[in-house]
Amino acid sequence: MIESLNELSKIVEKCNKCDLCLKRKNTVFGVGNENADVMFIGEGPGADEDIEGEPFVGKAGKLMNQAFIGLGISREKIYIANIVKCRPPNNRTPLKEEANACLDYLRNQVVIIKPKIIVLLGNTALKNILGDEFGITAARGKWIEKKGIRYMPTFHPAALLRDQVKKIDFWKDLELIKNEAISNNYKI
Ligand code: URA
Repeated sequence: MIESLNELSKIVEKCNKCDLCLKRKNTVFGVGNENADVMFIGEGPGADEDIEGEPFVGKAGKLMNQAFIGLGISREKIYIANIVKCRPPNNRTPLKEEANACLDYLRNQVVIIKPKIIVLLGNTALKNILGDEFGITAARGKWIEKKGIRYMPTFHPAALLRDQVKKIDFWKDLELIKNEAISNNYKI
């Protein structure tokens, strides 16, 4: 295990464990507070993230930021990462072998950050972290506790761009997270 995010990010920058490294412009390691109590996990970088090297800076990220602003969630107090650190071609879902090749980096990030709450954005995050038996429509909005971490699955913000109705549930789920954080004195 690597003990600092900085050191780990340098290793990720040179990663060639799967073919996603061949076409990337940048690795997208993660961003935020090294001691965050609340961590958000998405799927993988899109075109904008690949260019900027930062997660959730494109259209879906802007929508998520609006919700953060509306609910008083600070991007500087939380941590945001993805299941895979390199952009899958045409924004396809990462293959199982790509996710598996990358997951040790995310596990190492979790060990360093020690979040109390992990928000799983969409099916890819949910299934790779908690298991293939879960599905986002049934699991969203309910706390799942595992090894001392409370998980909250919710829709991926890109799904809200396709279906506006999901915005209501997404907002409700973020409210649950915000309230849980406040009542436990967690940074958010
Ligand atoms: N979608 C994701 O899952 N992650 C990002 O960083 C951007 C879009």
